[in-house]
Amino acid sequence: MEQKIIEIRKTLPEIIQQADTLINLDEIRIKTLGKNGSITALMKELGKLSPEERKNAGQTLNVLKNEISTLLDNRKNELEQKEMNERLASQTVDITLPVRPNTHSGRIHPVSQVTEEMLTIFAQMGFDVAEGPDIEDDFHNFEALNIPASHPARQMQATFFMDNTTDKVLRTQTSGVQIRTMETKKPPIKIVAPGRTYRRDYDMTHTPMFHQIEGLVIDTETNLAHLKSTLVEFMKLFFETDDVALRFRPSYFPFTEPSYEADVGCSRENGEFKIKSGAGWCELLGCGMVHPNVLRTCGLDPNIYQGFAFGCGIDRFAMLKYGIPDLRSFFDADMRWIKHYGFLPLDIPTITNGLSCNGGLKR
Ligand code: DAH
Repeated sequence: MEQKIIEIRKTLPEIIQQADTLINLDEIRIKTLGKNGSITALMKELGKLSPEERKNAGQTLNVLKNEISTLLDNRKNELEQKEMNERLASQTVDITLPVRPNTHSGRIHPVSQVTEEMLTIFAQMGFDVAEGPDIEDDFHNFEALNIPASHPARQMQATFFMDNTTDKVLRTQTSGVQIRTMETKKPPIKIVAPGRTYRRDYDMTHTPMFHQIEGLVIDTETNLAHLKSTLVEFMKLFFETDDVALRFRPSYFPFTEPSYEADVGCSRENGEFKIKSGAGWCELLGCGMVHPNVLRTCGLDPNIYQGFAFGCGIDRFAMLKYGIPDLRSFFDADMRWIKHYGFLPLDIPTITNGLSCNGGLKR
């Protein structure tokens, strides 16, 4: 046994040092320390020795085993380092090179583009972005928005119910995010909440899934004039024209009092839709002052706090701004459509560089 130990100690370190790949090194580990390895075999032989011999040989063998283990580990580290260096050397990226031309073949969907445009404007106005779940409970989608179970307003929104329960629904509006925000944040509150919404509807201007953006501002002195100026300012930036007229028609939403629907001045001459004052009107969004019942449900005293809310369809804004006639085409996943109406990935909307496409250049 002694002879074998001497032999291993003499030859193995060099063999380990010569291993030039991790696979190679692992083979050596198996051949020595593995189940049928040479050192393991010696360990097994210890049993055949006399107690005195076993003690000495055992100690020597353990020392050898530790030495070999350390050598294997060190070599492994060396090889890993070497492999990493080679990888780093071969995979360098020159970040000063221009972007490859084929990134131009992908397109950003108009809904993503318009969401980005809207958020850019609202962020500049000081709004935070809030989110809520697509699968919403009855409380946040209806009850807390002043729409109790028996309320006829529930029929205004053809609801998808989850798993035959009445408690979980696919949210019919992003208005529930108002509640979630007021539950968790103290005023002043200034948020917009974009997201998917769902209703059982399907025609040229309705799809079962669509997108809304909700706005909520709560403070001690927020009033209708603030609502109006916020929306007017937003429309000018969004439609990229100063010739914006907004008309507020009295309306009804259970969660606002008073409630309005806002229309924007527009013309439809020679089949071309244009945002401008002095011609016709086009319905845009719902809005109003947050109902005292809604504030109370969220633990806010309506004698101290007040504010406004608004909600509108993102897809609808995309249709108006970019002249897309049929909402259903948004979700057809048709390559020809996205090539025509989509946006270049690197044209990120900013207030200073322009929000959207100019003269087809960016499309
Ligand atoms: N949630 C309404 C809808 O889906 C839109 C809306 C109207 C939102 C008035 C509001 C609001 O925040 O104040 O039809």
